[in-house]
Amino acid sequence: MPAVITLDGPAGVGKTTLARRLAAALGVAFLDTGAMYRAVAMSLGENGWELPEAEIAERLSRLCFSLHGSGEETALAMDGFALGDELRSEEVGRWASLVARLPVVRQCLVTAQRQMGSAKSLVAEGRDMGSVVFTQAACKFFLDARPEVRALRRYHQLLSLGQTPQPLEELVEALRIRDEQDRTRPISPLKPAEDAIIVDTSDLDVEEVFAQLQAQAAA
Ligand code: C5P
Repeated sequence: MPAVITLDGPAGVGKTTLARRLAAALGVAFLDTGAMYRAVAMSLGENGWELPEAEIAERLSRLCFSLHGSGEETALAMDGFALGDELRSEEVGRWASLVARLPVVRQCLVTAQRQMGSAKSLVAEGRDMGSVVFTQAACKFFLDARPEVRALRRYHQLLSLGQTPQPLEELVEALRIRDEQDRTRPISPLKPAEDAIIVDTSDLDVEEVFAQLQAQAAA
């Protein structure tokens, strides 16, 4: 039976980097569920979250997600198009957070995520992986860090992707608004699963966090 490890936490905490590395170390697939919400937000277009629910449901029913490969080579696609770093701007993150409030969207993506998790072992990262989607996961992590630390990490991530980040103070504010939105939504709010291992990464570098995750996942 496929095994799932979950990594949840707020924006900019380093989930994607760590989940990808952990998946590579374990030789399993890496599921970036934020990329799924980002891709849906892009496909619905600007202000797509304001469309009538029936229209959103109809559009979602035509979408098809696939997950191939493992570790660093994992390929997540929507309708055959790879979901890559071009989705990673803060603007698309904001759209994704608004779209992610809609029950019709969550229902569709949770179903797709569970199907992937029942087909192959994976490390899944997002906001509700441990609390909602994979409640039976073998190991659950919730990563956190102080807001200014997360903003700085996101700033460097955007730079490394060749994007021009907003000034740091604006990024702190953008992440604060997005986290508030994710924490206070009525459905699947961002919060640790009761049985999650909580790791405050504020004063740790990526190697230190990775070592902790790897040790706990093997325990
Ligand atoms: O992780 P990432 O920044 O790519 O996620 C973008 C947005 O998608 C989040 O701010 C959140 O609103 C939403 N999301 C979610 N549930 C997940 C993953 C992402 O609601 N499992």
